[in-house]
Amino acid sequence: MVGRFFVQEDSFPLFATAAKGTEGMLRDELRERRFRGVRATRGGVSFVGSLTEALRACLEIRIAQRILVQLASFPCVSADDLYDGVRAIEWHHWTSTKHSLSVRAEGRTDALVHTGFVAQKVKDAIVDTLRARFGERPNVDRDDADMPIFVLLKNGLASVYADASGEPLFKRGYRLEALDAPLKETLAAAIVRWSGWRGEGDFVDPMAGSGTLAIEAGMLAKNIAPGLTRKRFSVERFAAFTDADRAWASRHRTFLDAAIKRDFEPSILVADAAPDACRISKANADRAGVRIRAREGFLDQLSLPREGATIVTNPPYGERLAMDEALMRGLRGLMRLEWKSLHVLAGSDAVLRALASRSTRWLDLANGDLPVKLVSYE
Ligand SMILES: C[S@@+](CC[C@H](N)C(=O)[O-])C[C@H]1O[C@@H](n2cnc3c(N)ncnc32)[C@H](O)[C@@H]1O
Repeated sequence: MVGRFFVQEDSFPLFATAAKGTEGMLRDELRERRFRGVRATRGGVSFVGSLTEALRACLEIRIAQRILVQLASFPCVSADDLYDGVRAIEWHHWTSTKHSLSVRAEGRTDALVHTGFVAQKVKDAIVDTLRARFGERPNVDRDDADMPIFVLLKNGLASVYADASGEPLFKRGYRLEALDAPLKETLAAAIVRWSGWRGEGDFVDPMAGSGTLAIEAGMLAKNIAPGLTRKRFSVERFAAFTDADRAWASRHRTFLDAAIKRDFEPSILVADAAPDACRISKANADRAGVRIRAREGFLDQLSLPREGATIVTNPPYGERLAMDEALMRGLRGLMRLEWKSLHVLAGSDAVLRALASRSTRWLDLANGDLPVKLVSYE
């Protein structure tokens, strides 16, 4: 969208970023939570709303990685276009010289290829605009800014955003300890959503590592909002976030807390061959407010508590995987168990070959930079 948006309008273009392949599920999640103007694009989902709606998304949405508030979007090919476009934003509506800022940039145009230079140019334009108005400049704080600014150069446009989440949303706060290769919590939430499990029957992850899939499943089933464990989000530190907004935020946290199904204990079982996995998964789950059962054990010894479990799991990656006979035997054995559905996030062909059966559904995803396939048997 090309144009400028000012804070008085009280409704802005918002953007929720998503891991590749999860955009459709994020769109559905935003619609379910009654956000407005929701539209999936590559890399995320656009919607509209006020700053409190941006905060509501940080608190409630499980799959988004960041929530961005779009301040402006304008044609940009050169450093001058960038500087002039950023100077035209009414920064005094958004921030003040008492509020620190940081600038991060991605993307490029033919003439602007260094993200470090782009970020510097944008920072200069913001500082010059505020200094011209107030006679003093705001501080830059790279690590903990009150208002983190994000600039994206793409298809001849510069889009300037304020990052409402601050720390990315996968940092929920419950995973203080992890084993190797943990999934991002936001990707785990997407995989749980894909599995269709909402708390009925057993949920089993037999290669649970730090327990992320099981914990996200438990939080979903118990209606624990993913942002409740975070003390605050960046948007609450914006100068434009008013006292009335703060009062709303406090009421909304209370409302979300009261909506947790505290009396409902879904049946969640995790296992892993690594000796520390049980302890770590349980400690992480406790912090998230979820109760899980955990056992140490190899996949080829797995037996299900009852028929009809939903199994959701993420085997190891790596080249030596195919040589791990116990794991390959375990994967083949998984196909013979009496589950309701089985969902495997596979990072290698060796895993898919071991499952040796045609999936009912599949989805290409990215786990960080690694292309992975989520396959389902139902
Ligand atoms: C990619 S990690 C899972 C990460 C997990 N999804 C998380 O978010 O923390 C794979 C896990 O499989 C476990 N594993 C490897 N071989 C196994 C086997 N034969 N039986 C059971 N677990 C195994 C590893 O100990 C490791 O924790």
